[in-house]
Amino acid sequence: MKIGILISGRGSNMSALADAVSDGRIPGATVAVVLSDYAAAAGLKHAADRGIEALAVERRGRTREEHEREIIAALREREVELICLAGYMRLLSPVFIEAFRGRILNIHPSLLPAFPGLDAQGQAIEHGVKVSGCTVHFVDESLDGGPIVVQRAVPVLDDTEETLAARILQEEHRAYGEAVALVVSGDYEIVGRRVITTNKINRDRQDEQDKKSNDE
Ligand code: GAR
Repeated sequence: MKIGILISGRGSNMSALADAVSDGRIPGATVAVVLSDYAAAAGLKHAADRGIEALAVERRGRTREEHEREIIAALREREVELICLAGYMRLLSPVFIEAFRGRILNIHPSLLPAFPGLDAQGQAIEHGVKVSGCTVHFVDESLDGGPIVVQRAVPVLDDTEETLAARILQEEHRAYGEAVALVVSGDYEIVGRRVITTNKINRDRQDEQDKKSNDE
């Protein structure tokens, strides 16, 4: 499965995903392109250093529609089947989401549905929560609200926004690879808002059958 990673900046989650692919932790996946809406994004250079195609599609001078149309065309040209947003700081329009429905993942630095939107780590500190973390979720039209694939908790200690962000980031790097591996494997179903692994579905069916035969 060809993956396209969208970034806007540093690209550490992009690098973590590229590592997971090259280490064989995401069987069957290749990173076809890393695309940024900002030409000076450090992550583009990291991608190119890894031999991954690094593409800038600047927003400047284009309407949102034109910008997205160009990105969609670039992803289709490369036959990208799964899009991973990794610090991509632009909201996707319904047209974009529809073009890749069920095939866009995002990583967010909080335990959603807590603290969606910008500055999730600052929001967590401000709110005084004792546990925060990160979430990988499917992207739909809601803000950071699509079905959740993987979450990891991180305790909030005597943190500043920066120290909390750094500890959450370490978990993000693990969580994203895990989530993409599940999605690429196809061993899941989305039931309502819940992403359920096929293993669990099979186990539940088996339990149900065992219960029936015991009752008979
Ligand atoms: C990450 O912490 C990611 O969760 C966050 O931006 C950072 C990007 O870092 N994304 C959002 O807040 C999206 N709402 P990176 O460029 O080093 O991967």
